[in-house]
Amino acid sequence: MNLTAIRQDFPILKTEVGGRPVVYFDNAATTQKPLPVLQAAMDYSLRRCGNPHRGAHYFSIAASAAYDGSKETVRRFLGAASTREIIYTRNTTESLNLVARSFAEPRLHPGDKILITIAEHHSNLIPWQRAAQKTGAKLDYIYVDKETGHFLPEDLEKLDDPAVKLVALAHVSNVLGIDYDPKPLIERAHAHGAVVVLDGAQSAPHKKIDVADLGCDFFAFSGHKMCAAGGIGVLYGREALLEEMEPFLLGGDMIDTVSEQDTSFAELPAKFEAGTQYVEGAVSLEAAIRYVEAIGWDAIRAQEKKLVARTLAGLAAMPHIQILGPTDPAEKEGLVSFEVEDVHPHDVAQILSASGICIRTGHHCAEPLHKYLGVNASCRASFYFYNTEEEVDYFLEKLKGVRPMMGYDE
Ligand code: ALA
Repeated sequence: MNLTAIRQDFPILKTEVGGRPVVYFDNAATTQKPLPVLQAAMDYSLRRCGNPHRGAHYFSIAASAAYDGSKETVRRFLGAASTREIIYTRNTTESLNLVARSFAEPRLHPGDKILITIAEHHSNLIPWQRAAQKTGAKLDYIYVDKETGHFLPEDLEKLDDPAVKLVALAHVSNVLGIDYDPKPLIERAHAHGAVVVLDGAQSAPHKKIDVADLGCDFFAFSGHKMCAAGGIGVLYGREALLEEMEPFLLGGDMIDTVSEQDTSFAELPAKFEAGTQYVEGAVSLEAAIRYVEAIGWDAIRAQEKKLVARTLAGLAAMPHIQILGPTDPAEKEGLVSFEVEDVHPHDVAQILSASGICIRTGHHCAEPLHKYLGVNASCRASFYFYNTEEEVDYFLEKLKGVRPMMGYDE
């Protein structure tokens, strides 16, 4: 697959700032959308739009087919056993809130522990904070080595504590870029019956996911970080767990029967999908999955590795740059976070933005991690398959000019 030719599918990448096309390096926040994905969603609205599961007419049946068909594609994408295990949500955040509210909060008690890692973004942190506050359970952390970003071996022993009832961890860190290889950690937590939630926000867009092989109990990801529309996300959950959970939101289409004083709920997955479904989003997600799968995981990975390696090599040659986490490209998945000495990340971003380069700055929704690392904020360049080595070179060239622009010699 020619990844340069594929840029034709992303007209937004032709947007010019200062006489040249933008360089979009904020893909960990959200990716751009290719024409086939945009066309699939528009085609649904032009030809098949209806309210699914609620009518016997042509358009309701067409909408049901579009919605339910996309679920089958997501099931296959994740390696789940059944579409009963695939719940559509707005995004990773809503998926994780669903698990915290409907699974964790009713089951946790004082004396129980929730174990997360210091490398979590807020989506996989605040819901567990709230669950701990509400239930009296303790929220504990696995900390990372401040240099390498890898988990402290002594903290991994917390996984073996029988008081730990729920473990929630990022598959790939959105700041450090590390793939935390969750499978052995999941096995360890399962050894004493803990339930494991995997946050796939930064993994599902970039690598083959197989929830059966990973062995996680829940897996969450967002469509907008992998070329789909905003507002469609997924929660995978083991059927047996979802069966015994209370619904998260209440309303239309998640019911079986309703009387004046009581309601019985629909079968999975409808039990967790109250209200009119976001069919346009579901269609967009299905098209996005087909699109990235057609490019292929090997090609996506190879391109991202090339870009990360070139970025790290360029940054290593610059004085006054500190990389967060590992500096070996083999250990970084598609993103590089860094600080420029003496220059606030927002100034770095603004200077780069004037040259059409889009990076993210701040704490990347991971404030506790930044505090733990002793850093207020950082800059992050995050890549997707449509980014090029020429873009990396341009970014490095402009980054070199940031400190001089702020009055430093180099
Ligand atoms: N968690 C998203 C990011 O890393 C928003 O940018």
